[in-house]
Amino acid sequence: MIKILLLAAASYLIGSIPFSFLTAKFFGGIDIRNYGSGNSGATNVFRTLGKKAGAVAFLGDFLKGFITILIIKIYIGIDISVICSACVVIGHCYPAFLRFKGGKGVATAGGTIFALYPLVGFILLFSLIVIVKISKMVSLGSISAAILFPVISLLLKTHKYFLFYSIVIGLFVIYKHRTNISRLLSGKESKISFKN
Ligand code: G3P
Repeated sequence: MIKILLLAAASYLIGSIPFSFLTAKFFGGIDIRNYGSGNSGATNVFRTLGKKAGAVAFLGDFLKGFITILIIKIYIGIDISVICSACVVIGHCYPAFLRFKGGKGVATAGGTIFALYPLVGFILLFSLIVIVKISKMVSLGSISAAILFPVISLLLKTHKYFLFYSIVIGLFVIYKHRTNISRLLSGKESKISFKN
């Protein structure tokens, strides 16, 4: 029990490392939460500071989920790594190092999914890319991937803990996008340009 609690706490703290926030500080000397959508995430860093900064922010937020969960999955097992996956994502969204105001969890959850079930990760990434290419709205791609996550997990007959994770994280990511959903419904969601 103590081992699970320690791993969960460590996962939360790793998730709390705000790579998007730090990247924006490093590349632009700004607090990303005062720009664009106000979100401390890779999309907003991309929107505000360009491709290079956006890619660095994405990699940081993705890899903290991927590396942490891959190690736990290999050395401890799938059940505990699912619990820790939720903790990394919660750390990213409510970071202890940033007064609990973080991102929306997509890149970090993506990292955990690739570590736990790469095939599900590839399918979700593909769907996200297609939707963003067509709509130019990252939020629409993220919300669609969050809806697809439990559907794909069910169709592929993934482990029951992973299926449970896909339902919880899918709903959580949709909840984190509630302001985006309002903007999408009123036709006011911002589009991204790949020309910068
Ligand atoms: O992953 C976050 C993305 O789906 C939306 O970001 O900055 O447009 O709210 P943003």
